[in-house]
Amino acid sequence: MADEFRPLKDAFGKFATGIAIATCVDAKGEIRALTINSFTSVSLDPALLLWCLENKTSAYAQFMEADGYALSVLGADQAALSNRFAGREPEPLSPDEFEIWETGAPLLKSRIAGFDCRIHRRHKAGDHVILIGEVVRFDSTNGAPLVYFSSNYHSGIQSK
Ligand SMILES: Cc1cc2nc3c(=O)[nH]c(=O)nc-3n(C[C@H](O)[C@H](O)[C@H](O)COP(=O)(O)O)c2cc1C
Repeated sequence: MADEFRPLKDAFGKFATGIAIATCVDAKGEIRALTINSFTSVSLDPALLLWCLENKTSAYAQFMEADGYALSVLGADQAALSNRFAGREPEPLSPDEFEIWETGAPLLKSRIAGFDCRIHRRHKAGDHVILIGEVVRFDSTNGAPLVYFSSNYHSGIQSK
């Protein structure tokens, strides 16, 4: 069946983005990890960022009930991690793959930047929810990013 949204997806996809893994811990203490590219920085003071959660994803309830989340920004050689957490039932993270900061949400040990966030606001918007997070801790490195453009991964951008 033809995808009626293909032309709009193609147009949105002309805006190159990075890729991050969003993680949370649900009410049962289970970790959920999801590949996202809708990250946007919002504010410096206070430090706010956002990403958009699709309301049909199997991860929806877990991210909606969690009071925080973490984002791990992927480096150029981490396309396999992006694919791993883009499926319906992603394999669980093993304890040696992550660390926990303030909120309890896990950050991948391999990343070029990390953000630990408490939920600031949730806004329903069409078929997504905008999750605005207050950044309570972050870090960054000089690693080159994994880039997503026109439905494909790209690398090769140099970091200063
Ligand atoms: C490159 C890429 C970017 C994505 N960005 C987002 C995103 O920003 N928000 C989101 O909710 N899902 C995003 N997804 C989709 C999820 O990673 C995941 O594939 C989807 O939610 C699985 O849905 P399901 O559990 O219903 O199968 C992205 C997937 C890929 C491959």
